[in-house]
Amino acid sequence: MTQSALMQLAYISDCQSGITPAAVAGIHQQAKRNNALNNVTGVLLTTDKHFMQLLEGEPQQVEQTYQRIRQDSRHTNVRLIFSRNTTQRQFPNWHMGLKHSLDQAEHSDLLAIINMYGQREHFSDQQADAINLLFSAL
Ligand SMILES: Cc1cc2nc3c(=O)[nH]c(=O)nc-3n(C[C@H](O)[C@H](O)[C@H](O)COP(=O)(O)O)c2cc1C
Repeated sequence: MTQSALMQLAYISDCQSGITPAAVAGIHQQAKRNNALNNVTGVLLTTDKHFMQLLEGEPQQVEQTYQRIRQDSRHTNVRLIFSRNTTQRQFPNWHMGLKHSLDQAEHSDLLAIINMYGQREHFSDQQADAINLLFSAL
């Protein structure tokens, strides 16, 4: 059987100011529920200021999910980091993994990197690759 084409998409956005852990938990629940139905997987990273998310699945499902996410008022300034075809999922078992970068000391590097990328409007291929590596390390 041939492997169907998959899409991987990553973005970074600015959290709505004062977003609470309960609100993030609500987003996570909603994401898990919808993504299980749409066979979308990935990971959501959160810091005080930014969300960074990797979405993967069938192209149409990933696109539709991303369009809904972009319009969500719980964050602003949603910037695409990359969107590419692939044949393999990086997070096949996570309908949406959640990482609070601030929870663990070992994630302080991650936090620094996200905050650095959080200043950017556009991403070069090299930066996109670096961010993909970051996701792979999770
Ligand atoms: C940072 C962030 C990440 C989100 N991630 C997802 C996601 O992975 N999948 C999803 O369906 N909705 C996600 N959402 C929620 C969507 O923006 C939208 O509210 C939801 O898909 C609407 O679904 P519903 O009409 O079934 O409630 C996310 C929202 C935010 C702010």
